[in-house]
Amino acid sequence: MTAPKDFNDRMLSLGLARVSEAAAHASARLIGRGDEKAADQAAVNAMRDQLNMLDIKGVVVIGEGERDEAPMLFIGEEVGTGEGPEVDIALDPLEGTTLTAKDMPNALTVIAMAPRGTLLHAPDVYMDKLAIGPGYPTDVVSLDMTPAERVRALAKARGVEAGDITVCILERPRHEDMIAEVRDTGAAIRLITDGDVAGVIHTAEAELTGIDMYMGSGGAPEGVLAASALKCMGGQMWGRLMFRNDDEKGRARKAGITDLDRIYARDDLVTADVIFAATGVTNGSIVAGVKREPGHLTTETILMRSKTGSVRRMIYRNPIK
Ligand code: FBP
Repeated sequence: MTAPKDFNDRMLSLGLARVSEAAAHASARLIGRGDEKAADQAAVNAMRDQLNMLDIKGVVVIGEGERDEAPMLFIGEEVGTGEGPEVDIALDPLEGTTLTAKDMPNALTVIAMAPRGTLLHAPDVYMDKLAIGPGYPTDVVSLDMTPAERVRALAKARGVEAGDITVCILERPRHEDMIAEVRDTGAAIRLITDGDVAGVIHTAEAELTGIDMYMGSGGAPEGVLAASALKCMGGQMWGRLMFRNDDEKGRARKAGITDLDRIYARDDLVTADVIFAATGVTNGSIVAGVKREPGHLTTETILMRSKTGSVRRMIYRNPIK
């Protein structure tokens, strides 16, 4: 599916970069202050203010939560001036609240925009995720393979040994078996404590980040954001929703999902052209974090469009008011 004519992604993308920059600026004061909530709130407020300046008829489909849980940027909230194209918005004003509070790497502000009805309305449940970078045959790995089979299949496709593969996994007790199985193949593992949007994006630039594959479960909303990024950069991703109870299944049904066991490929999560922006909050391997100098703040933003495959890195230096 291609984007409708009025989705002028070329111009809108620059506005989107300002939105993620604003959120990073706002959370800068709270890096390393041990207060996740305050950092998140600052990013949410700034992101919402900037978003409402864009000439779009936007609806938040991935946001801060359900309307009764989140006062701002809740799912279904209308954003933008109301003048312009009808779009879906997926956002995470601060992806890595704990990373920010502890000043640990790879906290990002993240936002994606696509024509209305083209981003999966992922409920706030876990998603089993698998991602690899560009340049591999289609479906060289799959969610139905065991972790060890995935490592071996990827190594074969790259013409290397399993020991030459590096897999990124969230360090969680629920991943202990997966980690042990991947280690048994001889592959290396980059364990991350949070931030699986960044984890997935790392696979798209394997030569820079050293990460060939991402696997494991994390937030389903983050899965849609990660798929948006990979659709711009190239790379394959798959996700399957995971449910711990009936309440979570109910959330999925409320979001319009009927096949609860479906495996979504990248282009099922994001069915049309998308634009994606992320700004570094803490330093990371995708973008630098906010740099504070006397009188100025400097941010780095990665801004991408799937239509062209363009990836732009923008440095923004701005006086502190
Ligand atoms: P927050 O920024 O909301 O804290 O999310 C961070 C994160 O690590 C995500 O990147 C990831 O998808 C999710 O949390 C994992 O959830 P859990 O901590 O429950 O394993």
